[in-house]
Amino acid sequence: MEVFDQPAPMRDWSISHRCAGRSVAVVPTMGALHRGHLELIEVAARRADRVVVTIFVNPLQFNQPIDFDRYPRPIDDDLATCDRAGVAAVYAPTAAVMYPPGHQTRVAPGELAERLEGPRRPGHFEGVTTVVTKLFGATCPDVAVFGEKDFQQLAIIRRMTADLDLGVEIVAVPTVREPDGLALSSRNARLSPGDRAAAVVLSRALSAAAESAAAGETDTGRLRQLADEIIAAEPAAEPEYLEVVAPDTLDRVTTIGRDGAVMLTAAWFGGVRLIDNRRLA
Ligand code: PAF
Repeated sequence: MEVFDQPAPMRDWSISHRCAGRSVAVVPTMGALHRGHLELIEVAARRADRVVVTIFVNPLQFNQPIDFDRYPRPIDDDLATCDRAGVAAVYAPTAAVMYPPGHQTRVAPGELAERLEGPRRPGHFEGVTTVVTKLFGATCPDVAVFGEKDFQQLAIIRRMTADLDLGVEIVAVPTVREPDGLALSSRNARLSPGDRAAAVVLSRALSAAAESAAAGETDTGRLRQLADEIIAAEPAAEPEYLEVVAPDTLDRVTTIGRDGAVMLTAAWFGGVRLIDNRRLA
């Protein structure tokens, strides 16, 4: 497995594979790899001849400096995980390489970034669109694989890739869950045992809404009420939002139509903020 920390050799590697007729898939990550990332790598390996994993904790997308400082960076473990998973190359630049003195260009996301997570995490999505554009520039992929767990991020990246003619196919992978339903996230490791047990309420609430929608309920007000009540019954949960939106536009919907809808939620559990979402039929 090759490991690069500079964009030019990374790009040369990728271009040489593509010129030789081999397709390249990228899995952008911030490291601290877990089973969810392994699933992304597996999907990437099915979609392309070579898989590149990027590992970069992106300072531009953190609102709280303390969150950035505390973000786990087990780079040796991550490299070993990638090697075992058959990854062909890892791109792991430093912040100084990504954002050298004088760097000033940002990729501004549009309206999709102004709702849900957007107002609660000012600048977050601009940090994501900027770094993903740079990672695409360095890795020159045919395909990029992202998890549906960050549903709004996925919608914004799809929009950006189309709007900027980046020529990368965006592939979405369903959220990987613990046996009790909790969505996998690097943040789960920071939950106390009590909060870990409580946090399953998010997936319980979303599943209840999804089951009700599958049984024919189309009124999103009633579906939200059902999910809200389940979360409110968990004393350890501090809910932030729960909304039902159209999958592509992220516009709020009052009735579930033919294209379906997605219920998204965010809540705090003892100082750890978790997000989750479920498609409603
Ligand atoms: O989803 C993530 O891990 C990050 O937001 C991403 C896409 C790697 C950009 O830093």
